[in-house]
Amino acid sequence: MMTNPEIERYIKNHTTPEAKHLAELNRETNLKILYPRMLSGHIQGKFLEMISCMIRPKMILEIGTYTGYSAICLAKGLTKEGVIHTIEINPELENFSKNYFSKAGIEHRVKQYIGNAIEIIPLINKIFDLVFIDADKENYLNYYKLVFDKVRRGGFILADNALWDGKVVKPVEQGDKETEGIIKFNDFVQNDNRVENILFPLRDGIMMIRKL
Ligand SMILES: C[S@@+](CC[C@H](N)C(=O)[O-])C[C@H]1O[C@@H](n2cnc3c(N)ncnc32)[C@H](O)[C@@H]1O
Repeated sequence: MMTNPEIERYIKNHTTPEAKHLAELNRETNLKILYPRMLSGHIQGKFLEMISCMIRPKMILEIGTYTGYSAICLAKGLTKEGVIHTIEINPELENFSKNYFSKAGIEHRVKQYIGNAIEIIPLINKIFDLVFIDADKENYLNYYKLVFDKVRRGGFILADNALWDGKVVKPVEQGDKETEGIIKFNDFVQNDNRVENILFPLRDGIMMIRKL
């Protein structure tokens, strides 16, 4: 959770500036695409990049490509032969993100899937070092269960929006499937003795999970 505008500015001013292609992607998403708030953005993007550079993954899975911002950040840490698999349900976003994967020079490292992640994940026969869950909130727990056996021991699963705008600590409104989904996921992870986890309070909260 960000603190106040002055602190936010200070954080930005003391973080490596956004790469040119990412700033352009950020701007074009805001101009042309619905729900631009979904994009990870400068600080979270840099954080994902840092984490990926620490892990040096060979194989990454991202659920929820949107316009490609987080995929480009995560790809930064890939080993030389590494690949990021990224799934997006909205076919209208395919060319937009593809264009930026080229601008970032990672087009040969990205395997894009267009379709429902629930159906696509079982078809990907890979073992992942890092998974980033950032799609529909109702299905977070389903995604966790679907990917778990595909994550190597010592591998990581990150899930965005784990604080869901603070709604996780308020009474859930009737029919609010998204909040229910996030709470169910967070509680399941917390009680899962196959992992260690920290709910990291960056932006909207990132659940960081290490498979034991
Ligand atoms: C929050 S955005 C992803 C943002 C992106 N990871 C980033 O940080 O820039 C969530 C994306 O998940 C996609 N999505 C929603 N349900 C999905 C599903 N069942 N399968 C695959 N993608 C889905 C949405 O269309 C949307 O583009």
